[in-house]
Parts: sequence; structure tokens; C-alpha cells
Amino acid sequence: MAKALPLRIDVHAPSRTYRVLVGPGSLAGLREVLDGVGCGTARFVVSNQTVWGHWGGALRESLPDAEPILLPDGERFKTLSSTARIYDALLKAGADRSAGLVTFGGGVVGDMGGFAAATYMRGLALAHVPTTLLAQVDAAIGGKVGVNLPGGKNLVGAFYQPSVVVIDPLVLATLPRREFRAGLYEVIKYGVACDAGLFERLRRDLGPLSRRDGGVLTPVIADCCRIKGAVVARDERESGARRILNFGHTVGHALEAATRYRRFLHGESVAYGMLASCAIAAARGMISAPDHAAIAALVAQLGPLPPVNDLSASAQLEYMRRDKKVHEGRLHVVLPTGIGSADVIADVSETELTTALTALGLAE
Ligand SMILES: NC(=O)c1ccc[n+]([C@@H]2O[C@H](COP(=O)([O-])OP(=O)(O)OC[C@H]3O[C@@H](n4cnc5c(N)ncnc54)[C@H](O)[C@@H]3O)[C@@H](O)[C@H]2O)c1
Ligand SMILES: [Zn+2]
Repeated sequence: MAKALPLRIDVHAPSRTYRVLVGPGSLAGLREVLDGVGCGTARFVVSNQTVWGHWGGALRESLPDAEPILLPDGERFKTLSSTARIYDALLKAGADRSAGLVTFGGGVVGDMGGFAAATYMRGLALAHVPTTLLAQVDAAIGGKVGVNLPGGKNLVGAFYQPSVVVIDPLVLATLPRREFRAGLYEVIKYGVACDAGLFERLRRDLGPLSRRDGGVLTPVIADCCRIKGAVVARDERESGARRILNFGHTVGHALEAATRYRRFLHGESVAYGMLASCAIAAARGMISAPDHAAIAALVAQLGPLPPVNDLSASAQLEYMRRDKKVHEGRLHVVLPTGIGSADVIADVSETELTTALTALGLAE
């Protein structure tokens, strides 16, 4: 049987147009794709030990000559000093500006490898080969790259679009269940905030999707890439439209910070954030009770989230204030205006947030 061609999405970012290819088995065709878009002559693959252990062999089959640069696994290694290790490896191998850098991993590897590519000799050709669901539907598209500082997440970075993004859903087979589920909350985010048709399909196909059934998963990933690509085309540097994709993230970031990034995977905290935003929108009459119930049911269907009943709403507000997202007791929050659409609302009150958070189980 002829191999199905990968789905192709063209991202027309103002600074660069590039394609995103989504297809089971696309890893095997990586070299042809990189050659086709002229992504570097000498090639370097930035990855981590976990991803390389599972899929390094498969990558090597496609790119036998590429030099791997392996970093330790984890958000705590998304640092300037890890980035310096990438620069050192590039320099030692004699990489010049004609080199290409391929990131092969989750969002941590993508952000950090992308940042190294953006800055080494003022810019190398970059390709992302994301291996987590979160990175496939979100982090690999849109050009945000960067690292953390001790003082906070993603404080150093750049906008640097890749030459191409190659997504192989088959690599998700080894992703831990919890990581996969965390990515699904971001998928739900796209459905609620941007695409009612996607939301309906998620409702219908959540079972096979959770089982990573390729027939369902591949088009869903491609749809998320299409949505993100379209938003990035309109607002590359996140001054307007792109902020819609922060749906669920104001409260989500507070929960992550309040628990020192230990309790929640990012997507899990976003799930709570989406529930809080939906509750506020419902209380304001911006979405109907049945729509609110449908969103809450879809989130609940993915299974239990880490507990929040030992956290307080006032502590979360404190984090949001520190995040400068509160001005005079009013907060900018993305609220759904229906299923499939959302808006940045500038006047959400602390009382509304407290009510929504306590309804989720937080103490006052
Ligand atoms: N640039 C952006 O626009 C953007 C958007 C969202 C998130 N991010 C960033 O992404 C990061 C989070 O990304 P993430 O959720 O992918 O986390 P991650 O990169 O830490 O990956 C999660 C875990 O899964 C492992 N893993 C990756 N692929 C695997 C596979 N196929 N099989 C088995 N294990 C695998 C990783 O080694 C890691 O342990 C954060 O740093 C966040 O700031 C960036
Ligand atoms: Zn997110």
C-alpha cells in the first residue's frame, strides 16, 4: 500500500513562511524534507537522553550524519548554561552559519534548541521535530524560543521561526500517559477558544484520541497546527490576536507558580484555568449554561486533575498581581464568548475570580 502523504500546513508568519508536516512515519522522511527546504548542510540534533533513548535510533536512520547534542531531561535544565553547552558542541564540531539545527524533543528541547539556533552566529537554519503532544500542537509552531532564568520562566528569548516543522504522531507512543493527557488539555483549549468543529470532534472522539488512535490523532494535531499557524500569521509577536491562545493560562500560571512548578503539568494547570474562565463567562452570561456544562464535562472526561483544595484563591490572586496582570483590582483574562470563540476581557474583577476559584475547590 502506498504510504499516505503527510498533511501539510503552511504558516505565513510575517518574518518567514514555512510548512508544518504531520504524518505517521514522517520521521523516516526527515532528511528529504530538510534537504527540500535547504535546512543546513552539516546538521546537529538537539535532544535529551529520554527522547534519544526511545527514538534516537529512528532519527539516526533518517539522518545518519547528524551529530547529536544531548542534554539532561527536565524543565530545570532549560537554562542559559545548558544553552552554552549547545554552543560549545557546535563550536567544537566547527559549525558555521551554514549549519542546520534540528530540535528533537518536547517543548523544553524545542525552546532551548531554538534559542541556541536563533543566537549561535546570529542564526542557524532551524527545524523542529516535536515529540510531545504539547510541543506538536503548540510549542513547535510560532517561533517563540527561549530559556528560564532563576527569577522566572521564559525570561530570555526571541521570536525565531523554524524553516520547517516535522510532526510524527507515532513517536507519541512512548510518551507517559500523564504527559499525553496534559497535551490534550491544550487541544481542548483550541477547540473552546477557536474552533467549534474541533470541539465537537473532541467530544465525539475523546476515547480513541486518548488511546492515541492514529486515525483520529493525526488530523486533530494538524487542526491545532492550522489554528496556531493562522493566529501566528496575524500576530507573530503576541500583541493582539495571539493572546487568545492564552485562554486558561492566567489562572494556570498562577497555580503552577503557587505550587513551585511541582504539582501540575502545564496542561493540567491550564485545565483548571479554562474551567475558571468558563465559570466567569457563564456567570456573566457570555456563554450558555449548556455550553459551560459541555466544556466542563469534556475536561472532566479526561480524568481527575491534581488536587487544589489545599490552595487558596487569595494566594492565586497574589500571583496574578505579581504577574502584573491585575490593574486596580481588574484583570485581563481570556474568556470564551461561545464554544469556538474567545476574547480578552479587560475588566474581570478579583471577586469574580475568587468565586470561580472557590467553585473549583480552592479555599477563599
Ligand atoms: N514556544 C512556545 O510557544 C511554547 C508553548 C508552550 C510551551 N512551551 C514550553 O514547553 C515546555 C514544556 O514542554 P513539554 O510539555 O513538551 O515538556 P518536556 O519537553 O519537558 O517533555 C515532557 C517529558 O516527556 C519526555 N518526552 C518527550 N517526548 C517523549 C516521547 N516521545 N516519549 C517519551 N518521553 C518523551 C521528555 O523527556 C520530558 O521528560 C515548557 O518549557 C514551556 O515553557 C513553549
Ligand atoms: Zn500552554
